[in-house]
Amino acid sequence: MTQPNARLSGDFKLGGELAVHRLGFGAMRITGAGIWGDPADPAEALRTLKRVPELGINFIDTADAYGPDVSEQLIAKALHPYTGVVIATKGGNSRTGPNQWIPLGRPEYLLQQVHKSLRNLHVEQLDLWQLHRIDPKVAREEQFDAIKQMLEQGLIRFAGLSEVSIEDIQAAQQYFPVATVQNRYNLVDRKHEDVLDYCQAQGIGFIPWAPLDSGDLAGSGTLLAQLAEQYQVGPSQIALAWLLKRSPVILPIPGTSKVVHLEQNVSAVEVTLTDDEFAQLDQSGKAAS
Ligand SMILES: NC(=O)c1ccc[n+]([C@@H]2O[C@H](COP(=O)([O-])OP(=O)(O)OC[C@H]3O[C@@H](n4cnc5c(N)ncnc54)[C@H](OP(=O)(O)O)[C@@H]3O)[C@@H](O)[C@H]2O)c1
Repeated sequence: MTQPNARLSGDFKLGGELAVHRLGFGAMRITGAGIWGDPADPAEALRTLKRVPELGINFIDTADAYGPDVSEQLIAKALHPYTGVVIATKGGNSRTGPNQWIPLGRPEYLLQQVHKSLRNLHVEQLDLWQLHRIDPKVAREEQFDAIKQMLEQGLIRFAGLSEVSIEDIQAAQQYFPVATVQNRYNLVDRKHEDVLDYCQAQGIGFIPWAPLDSGDLAGSGTLLAQLAEQYQVGPSQIALAWLLKRSPVILPIPGTSKVVHLEQNVSAVEVTLTDDEFAQLDQSGKAAS
């Protein structure tokens, strides 16, 4: 059986300029438990990363906080010099232990972390840098101004936000062009539907995290399970196919530390849901959310 290629997911131009295939890879899971320290199986994590471009994926999402530093350093070890692969990273969260994430948006910290990401990834400019969280302890305008300056200095090429409202995006747009928004969104978590619609209208890439989640919809005998059987994939690949059809600005970044799961996830690009299947899934997802 030939392996599907992520190019089949179609293209999106970050910032209207930098084309990536829409199905990307999330590199948060190539770290230890609680997204802390080294992965349980570093050799398999490296194999997974090396397989990413072989499957046509040319968009990888990471963050300084994953490990911290572990994810960025493994990406560099496996894939530098990144021929044709766009690496998006994030900053603005401090890490004080496993599963602990504390927003830190002081401008000097954001700048420090951008310099660390440049070093970790062995690049002179970050393709896409996203503010991981707006720090509520710091005026958001100060954080947006720091991003504007990093864009002007050429440290980052494009900038994005994460876990934000439409109002946050509009406030940020006063400072810099918002290229991407990364909010939690999937078939059964629809609270950011309004943000997605705004991103689509503005041509902003919408990166839904936790894209594989389909909650209780994946149980036996459900529509999701029936479609998975019909298309000969797993329920989470149907959830990915639903995301890809939901909007042309959606860039799903399913995350895994295992080659076999990566290959399964890419097979979602071969699933073309009919309008009727899409609508039925949409309804059941809304009802479960
Ligand atoms: N902006 C933010 O605040 C934020 C927050 C969270 C995540 N993110 C980003 O979003 C990406 C995706 O989010 P996520 O990792 O939370 O959720 P996800 O991609 O929906 O799910 C990942 C989980 O599913 C498992 N998995 C993946 N493929 C599988 C398959 N084919 N079969 C069975 N299990 C599978 C993974 O474990 P295995 O390793 O065992 O496969 C992992 O536990 C992250 O990598 C990160 O880049 C961003």
